[in-house]
Amino acid sequence: MSYVDNYKDQVVLVTGGAGAIGSNLTRSLAEAGARVIVLDDLSSSERWNVPSMPGVLFVEGDVLDEVKLKRVFFERPAVVFHLAAFFANQNSVDHPERDLMVNGMGTVRLLEYSVFTNVTRFVFASSGCSIYGSSAPFPLREEFMSLHLSSPYQITKMLGELYCNFFNNHYALQVVKPRFFNSYGPGEVPGQYRNMIPNFIYWAMKGQPLPITGTGEETRDFTYVGDIVDGLLRAGAMEAAIGQEFNLASGAETRIMDLANMINDATGNKAGIKFTQRRKWDTKSRLLASIDRARDLIGYSPHTSFEQGLHNTIEWFQSNWDRIESAARFGPGVSAAVREVAKLST
Ligand SMILES: NC(=O)c1ccc[n+]([C@@H]2O[C@H](COP(=O)([O-])OP(=O)(O)OC[C@H]3O[C@@H](n4cnc5c(N)ncnc54)[C@H](O)[C@@H]3O)[C@@H](O)[C@H]2O)c1
Repeated sequence: MSYVDNYKDQVVLVTGGAGAIGSNLTRSLAEAGARVIVLDDLSSSERWNVPSMPGVLFVEGDVLDEVKLKRVFFERPAVVFHLAAFFANQNSVDHPERDLMVNGMGTVRLLEYSVFTNVTRFVFASSGCSIYGSSAPFPLREEFMSLHLSSPYQITKMLGELYCNFFNNHYALQVVKPRFFNSYGPGEVPGQYRNMIPNFIYWAMKGQPLPITGTGEETRDFTYVGDIVDGLLRAGAMEAAIGQEFNLASGAETRIMDLANMINDATGNKAGIKFTQRRKWDTKSRLLASIDRARDLIGYSPHTSFEQGLHNTIEWFQSNWDRIESAARFGPGVSAAVREVAKLST
């Protein structure tokens, strides 16, 4: 029996199921025959991104709202994937209190309701950038952690892991803490606080220069969302995952300059790139994760090449351009790089 078969006829709660990763996870769970309850307040996502499929129930609401929590836990989920979060670094620098409420208190509430209702597995969306700091040896391995983090988001994501460990030790809740690295793929709508790849594709399709905040020599370990979803399905079903933390990454580095050039080539954008100031919290010049532990524990093996993943993402942008363009939010703000390009395009 495959790990995917575990989900057949299971009730599964996905918080943040309208988001970039959650919407893809929801689709895969529904395809596997699960009854999926999505709890999302749509604060950083769109209703149309929630898959309309048989077996998917959408509940609009905040993870801090106890009425909504009672509503979704009334469905008696066996497995909880807690992906809702105040996203991400720059947003948390601008709004540290909201970050603490959603990522800190929101996670504690989810853990409490999971214990009260005898949830059998709680999977917490952790983050590689929130654990290893800026001076860990490469590739980043799970044994290392840093207390010198550079944004409130990183602090509250680590806090989430620490609370998961407490609920595991004290209440024997079966927690799993996969650490994602730079997810990208279909389902992520660009915006002021979003990741580099959707924003680069957006600007490229609008014929604008791509803003690189740094030298372009920086690297990231970009992970295709389909591979992260596969890791999550394994995390929610396999015994070996219980109590563990492990990286879900691609295990390969991509230079930001190469990424920008690939996107400009693939979209026919002639506007090139432009360099802007590095953001103060952005202290990591390289990111490269070891995926040995995830491979050994749960057989995780990312199989989407970067070229293929980028191709799928651009195709998703092209097929959904009108609604992506009207949903993309670039307010007056904050990320200087994004603000400059936004001004150019209006
Ligand atoms: N995308 C990445 O590269 C990455 C990397 C590391 C970790 N993660 C973690 O993975 C998870 C999913 O990331 P994503 O990229 O899909 O982000 P996302 O912002 O697209 O999804 C998060 C979802 O949570 C919802 N949400 C936010 N606050 C909420 C609240 N108070 N109540 C209910 N819903 C709320 C948003 O509307 C959104 O749909 C997050 O927990 C994130 O911290 C993501």
